[in-house]
Amino acid sequence: MHDLSGRVCVVTGASSGIGLETAKGLAARGATVCLVGRDPARTAAALEEVRGVGGPEPSALTVDFSRIADVRRLADELLRRLPRLHVLINNAGQWTPHRELGEGGIERTFLVNQLAPSCLTRGLLDLLRASAPARIVTVSSRLHEREARLRFEDVRRAAPYEGLAAYRQSKLANVLFAGALARRLVGDGVTSCSVHPGDVATDVVRDSRALSLGLRWVGRRYLLTPEEGARTSLHAAAAPELAGVTGRYYASCREAQPSLAARDADQAERLWVDCERLLS
Ligand SMILES: NC(=O)c1ccc[n+]([C@@H]2O[C@H](COP(=O)([O-])OP(=O)(O)OC[C@H]3O[C@@H](n4cnc5c(N)ncnc54)[C@H](OP(=O)(O)O)[C@@H]3O)[C@@H](O)[C@H]2O)c1
Repeated sequence: MHDLSGRVCVVTGASSGIGLETAKGLAARGATVCLVGRDPARTAAALEEVRGVGGPEPSALTVDFSRIADVRRLADELLRRLPRLHVLINNAGQWTPHRELGEGGIERTFLVNQLAPSCLTRGLLDLLRASAPARIVTVSSRLHEREARLRFEDVRRAAPYEGLAAYRQSKLANVLFAGALARRLVGDGVTSCSVHPGDVATDVVRDSRALSLGLRWVGRRYLLTPEEGARTSLHAAAAPELAGVTGRYYASCREAQPSLAARDADQAERLWVDCERLLS
């Protein structure tokens, strides 16, 4: 295990699954961890688990990523609380079979999985730069590979809506975002990468009873545990050999090749500008 003593880390979506195990893994390596969850009770329970690992006293905050004003407030609160920030793990994510429009008429999966982390990251960039060397890890998915291109023109994900396609779009956006961020941070001592955690038995499909039951059955036999699923995020956040290495995509704790669409720098720039416009 790489020693992270003296390092300050923020993990979003830390109340369950991969995020909770990532927070525990960082704490076990000696980092001071701030957990970001959504539900106060679940987040408090997660905080206790992270405390149980030992290491410096962790802290926790809650936010609903579908409310951009709240994400801005979260960034301000983190700036107030944290003297430094060395690792930001954009892990929170959702999948839902139901089309729901959130703020500004933006489809909720895109709002939660892409726009909110983009907003949080921007809010924390100056602190990350001032704390350099620092790392930003964005949790994507290999499912991004199934989308031939990002549908910029349709952030409402108009009918016919398919939950999995909306999720894959958001995960393609995550890889493009991490790449655009890396290019903006060259020379600042802050790296940006994206990861695929593997196929992990978590509650990410909790909005679908059928899928949840199926996943539970399959999960016990074939899927990674959340602890195993956290390994690639931990590798990206902590491996000494990745110091200064930026703009990469990792799976199974190794560098991997994202899809052609995810490597398109023009698409990444367009996403960056679009997110800026949506957040303004
Ligand atoms: N499981 C997999 O096989 C897999 C594969 C590839 C990528 N991923 C990615 O891994 C990341 C973690 O997912 P997971 O599998 O660990 O699922 P999970 O157990 O459902 O964890 C998701 C986390 O995100 C939080 N979250 C969801 N919607 C939110 C919102 N609107 N505002 C604030 N927080 C919100 C959840 O909070 P609550 O506890 O309140 O729900 C939870 O802490 C996600 O980005 C997912 O896309 C997962």
